Amino acid sequence: MSFQISKYKFKSRGVLAPILDYSTLPFRLLCKDYGASLTFTEMVHIKQVVPFEKDLSKISSLDSCKDDKVTAVQLVGDFTDRKLTLKAIEVIDSLKDFDIINLNLGCPSGKIIAGNSGSCLIKDLSKVLPVIKEIKSVSNKPVTVKTRLGFYENEINIISKKLISTGIDGLVVHARRAVDNYSVKAEVSFLKKLNKEISIPFIYNGDVSKNNLNLFDDFSAIMVAREALGNPYIFTQIDDYDLQKEIEEYDLEKRKKAFLDFLKIYKKHKIPFPKFKLIVVSFLKDFPKASQLRDVVSKSKNEIELISVIKEELYL
Ligand SMILES: Cc1cc2nc3c(=O)[nH]c(=O)nc-3n(C[C@H](O)[C@H](O)[C@H](O)COP(=O)(O)O)c2cc1C
Repeated sequence: MSFQISKYKFKSRGVLAPILDYSTLPFRLLCKDYGASLTFTEMVHIKQVVPFEKDLSKISSLDSCKDDKVTAVQLVGDFTDRKLTLKAIEVIDSLKDFDIINLNLGCPSGKIIAGNSGSCLIKDLSKVLPVIKEIKSVSNKPVTVKTRLGFYENEINIISKKLISTGIDGLVVHARRAVDNYSVKAEVSFLKKLNKEISIPFIYNGDVSKNNLNLFDDFSAIMVAREALGNPYIFTQIDDYDLQKEIEEYDLEKRKKAFLDFLKIYKKHKIPFPKFKLIVVSFLKDFPKASQLRDVVSKSKNEIELISVIKEELYL
């Protein structure tokens, strides 16, 4: 199966989700090496982008490189603030290593909602739709939206129609309402129907794991977040599943290899130490001494100390 967003053609279905603190440049590159066709940056606030217009190197979430292809940069913020939003788009448009713009209309966090951002914007789309239309007409990159089934209710049929009317190039839907937490199962079957009706590229998101890939056969693109944490191998498993090959387990040897691969990439593309720690911890789950190792990571003061202790403990 293949999918396409504007001029970008993707051979495999696995897409790395925007994951705050995790979807950093080295982790995106790692996931691409393991088979992700398209990756997303973590969300970047438009209020953060505009003041640093002249020195974007200060925003580590916007680090990229020519191998970081294809990546969608995800923006979050109050997109009904037309002036600020269009300024942020102009800044992002100038970044040639990013290929696609993604607008976050799905984040349910209290802080984001309080700023009339994320999923708050789907409560009443009337003010944001004209701005999305304008973004689409001025941006030199394809524009996509990531959203949820609805805020209180599942209204994705209406929401998707309205969003598509702005001319966007693709839609990602996390199959939960904004009020749902992760204990509510993602509504896959509902989005299967929508997928058939929708006229633009569609990316499914929610609860994808190696054990349930058969549920997502109908989708030409599937986005993975939690399952990918410390586990870039999920993208190899998705490819193997699609090629009807045997899906191998992500055993401890593979986890060690993936971790070492991450460290190699990290040496070339550094990220702030707190994010590095989080990503390292995500690789440690399932190791026999995981909780002790987590402790070591949280106490470590610098990366040299951290890497050497972990390597010693894991016999790397
Ligand atoms: C730690 C964490 C951070 C996240 N950060 C973002 C983000 O920056 N932008 C976004 O659109 N969604 C974010 N999400 C939501 C995921 O992209 C995804 O929609 C959700 O986790 C469902 O996918 P999953 O079942 O594969 O985890 C985040 C999720 C987690 C667990």
